Amino acid sequence: MDKNTPIDYKIVSEKISESGLKEVGKATIREIKKLVDNIEKSSGENFIRMEMGIPGIPPTQVGVDAEIKALKSGVAAIYPDIQGIPTLKNEISRFVKNFINIDVNPEGCLPTVGSMQGSFAAFLALNRIHKGREKVLFIDPGFPVHKQQLQVLGYQYETFDVYNYRGDKLRDKLESFLSKGEISSILYSNPNNPSWICFTENELQIIAELSKKYGVIVMEDLAYFGMDFRKDLGTPGQAPYQASVARYSDDYILFISSSKAFSYAGQRIGMMVISDHLFKAEFPDLLRFYKTSQFGYSMVFGTIYPLSSGTSHSAQYALAAILKAANDGDLDFVEDVKIYGKKAHIMKQMFLDNGFKIVYDKDEDEDIADGFYFTFSYPGLSGVELLGELIYYGISAISLAITGSDRIEGVRACVSLVNENQFGDLEYRLKAFNRDHQ
Ligand SMILES: Cc1ncc(COP(=O)(O)O)c(C=O)c1O
Repeated sequence: MDKNTPIDYKIVSEKISESGLKEVGKATIREIKKLVDNIEKSSGENFIRMEMGIPGIPPTQVGVDAEIKALKSGVAAIYPDIQGIPTLKNEISRFVKNFINIDVNPEGCLPTVGSMQGSFAAFLALNRIHKGREKVLFIDPGFPVHKQQLQVLGYQYETFDVYNYRGDKLRDKLESFLSKGEISSILYSNPNNPSWICFTENELQIIAELSKKYGVIVMEDLAYFGMDFRKDLGTPGQAPYQASVARYSDDYILFISSSKAFSYAGQRIGMMVISDHLFKAEFPDLLRFYKTSQFGYSMVFGTIYPLSSGTSHSAQYALAAILKAANDGDLDFVEDVKIYGKKAHIMKQMFLDNGFKIVYDKDEDEDIADGFYFTFSYPGLSGVELLGELIYYGISAISLAITGSDRIEGVRACVSLVNENQFGDLEYRLKAFNRDHQ
């Protein structure tokens, strides 16, 4: 590498050596954050920071206003109902009707402490519905914290990278796992963190069909709800709708985060939506752990109750107000987050113009959407090597290796924290990188 790099070579090398990291490219998101903070401080240069997936825009104001009002009225002193306040449950049910076009009884619409608590609770309950079926199948790449959740719970998982199994190929691949009879449930995110692929209707039907055949429950993580910007998903009650397995399956759980769609990450509130059929379903094996064999009851009073006894009271009022505004057509939440897609479009082109490749680039035969994340590689370098070099050029991101991806050449970029006034810097640094690596 040319030692005349955009960020002072000596400072970067020094900070890497002080960090104790053997290979920068293998560091966790938080380790990279700390290293880059230190380099920025010493060099006085700002990085193009693409490592962390945090919202880059202010919280949805109707939520903040409703939450302040609720706090002033005294809700902080009162325990909220574990299953959620009625207005929120109704608005969640309206929301999934308006934006996914599915019917779910408010009973199965539950607030959770972020969608992370939703998945934790679901892992707990779903791995107990059938004795001997205590594994989750991840359609990867995926969000590493989900695997960490299973690890602490003591449950196992299977995984495959969907890259080579798009379209009809997904059927045989899924069957090869499900037919072994050990899988209780499947999890994937859509749009996908980290690759930003979105499953097609054909693929969602295949997932629904096979999960039904093998009695497996589908967990669909909609953390980036409405953000397939190729379609306008923001008009209530009007097609096109957010793509979801829920339109093809009877037994599903949806996790809808308010962190990115409503920039409400700090208040830790998300939604768990359990289909009517699954909510009422009886699983005698649940009696080993719960008072009842009914799934919904076991989730609310046997799982969420001991985990957190419900979700922050004031945040429930915030979310209810946000959803009501979206349901009534007063808040175009999709419009508010389109900035992520616009930034990704420009940034991806800069990478392509400078010798980089997009790793996950297609949904069957269609180009993937521009959104919160994209994945890239540079010929001749592994993802770990690439990250280790990019740090000298003032660009930080994370390796796909920690996400269950087989694409060892890949790196994930998150666009949310990159400011548009940094695009000039990004272009200059990518050019310098390409020049030095040809
Ligand atoms: C795929 C995915 N699921 C879940 C989450 C966490 O959501 P929440 O903040 O609602 O817990 C994230 C956050 O980055 C995510 O990317």
